[in-house]
Amino acid sequence: MAVNLLLGLQWGDEGKGKIVDVLTKNYDIIARFQGGPNAGHTLEFDGIKHVLHTIPSGIFHDKAINLVGNGVVIDPVIFKKELDNLAKFNLDYKSKLVISRKAHLILPTHRILDAASEASKGKAKIGSTLKGIGPTYMDKTGRNGIRVGDLELSDWKERYRNLANKHEAMIDFYDAKIEYDLEELENEFFEAIKTLKSLTFIDSEEYLYQAQKEGKKILAEGAQGSLLDIDFGTYPFVTSSNTTAAGACTGLGVAPNKIKEVFGIFKAYTTRVGSGPFPTELFDEDGETMGRVGNEFGATTGRARRCGWLDLVALKYAVHVNGVTQLMMMKGDVLSGFKTLKVCTAYNYQGKTITHLPYNIEPENVTPVYTEMKGWSEDLTKMNDKSQFPKELNDYIDFLEKELETPITIVSVGPDRTQTIHR
Ligand code: IMP
Repeated sequence: MAVNLLLGLQWGDEGKGKIVDVLTKNYDIIARFQGGPNAGHTLEFDGIKHVLHTIPSGIFHDKAINLVGNGVVIDPVIFKKELDNLAKFNLDYKSKLVISRKAHLILPTHRILDAASEASKGKAKIGSTLKGIGPTYMDKTGRNGIRVGDLELSDWKERYRNLANKHEAMIDFYDAKIEYDLEELENEFFEAIKTLKSLTFIDSEEYLYQAQKEGKKILAEGAQGSLLDIDFGTYPFVTSSNTTAAGACTGLGVAPNKIKEVFGIFKAYTTRVGSGPFPTELFDEDGETMGRVGNEFGATTGRARRCGWLDLVALKYAVHVNGVTQLMMMKGDVLSGFKTLKVCTAYNYQGKTITHLPYNIEPENVTPVYTEMKGWSEDLTKMNDKSQFPKELNDYIDFLEKELETPITIVSVGPDRTQTIHR
């Protein structure tokens, strides 16, 4: 059986968690393939809002197995908090959660290093979530990291100590004057390791190979968004993993020819949290309205998200890089009430009009070219069928489908599971 893949096409926060939760009933395994607790996947049902950081978004369903892949970086302390939250809902997560031995661990000193590195960058800071993501992936590619499977070895604490000592010297080098109590952080870390060790560790590539042979249905869940990809994003203002489709192959051990559908999730407008270029960003009342109505605050850090019009140049790029086969449009309801909607269809770039994403999209290089469309005033949040959509929303969807040459199969009209309209 083939593997389907779901990922974000913008700068993250597209609503992947909600859609994974909606789709999980069709799958046997939900497998997260990259990122770590920098993610905040929000799910809402029965009047309760849940935020997951590392645990795949299928965990609230009865049957599906939730797999944390080798491409993910795990902070045991945050992971334990997530598990404690699930326990409050009497969720038997132990039988539904498996973790790759090859996933890397975020150590307390990785988090401090992240803070020290950001502080040393001054105005050029990335706007990192400071969860230790960058330093952990650096240790992974630098071949120094500690993996989940190491916890089964007798000398893992020695390895831990060596790496933490090295980190302390690096933290001193930054001279960022960050205060921390390592002993306290380590107590919390080793306590959380005990919880982690009570879970099932697997060789996930073999597990997924066998699952495919048995005809199981697998959904690979991405985190962050394509424009935050370490290779294809707006470098250096990106995260440290491959958030694009290829990341699912390396982050799970799934062969490229086994991937069938690629579900690309995007918001009907654009948001970004943290630093970095954002050509269609709004600094006016329209941007403020999107932020307020869309409740655009980070699920992990609480930071206000920057808002702007939909950028089809960037979106097309993401569709192409990922080989998206189906699009899912989120937060259409937030655009209700705008008289006119703008969609960026090209950039003015160095005196020319271009329709592809150039190397440099800093504001001094790029000015968006907009197509204007009539907005709608109807409240979409109570709608439950596409036949109820106003004409202007259908026009908006048709325009995007034509431009992106890809069907939009789901339109989300609110945060709840039930506010999901299939087309
Ligand atoms: P880091 O991955 O925490 O180092 O953050 C690097 C950049 O990616 C920053 O601009 C963050 O705001 C952004 N980022 C990381 N994770 C997410 C996410 O899940 N949603 C949106 N932005 C994110």
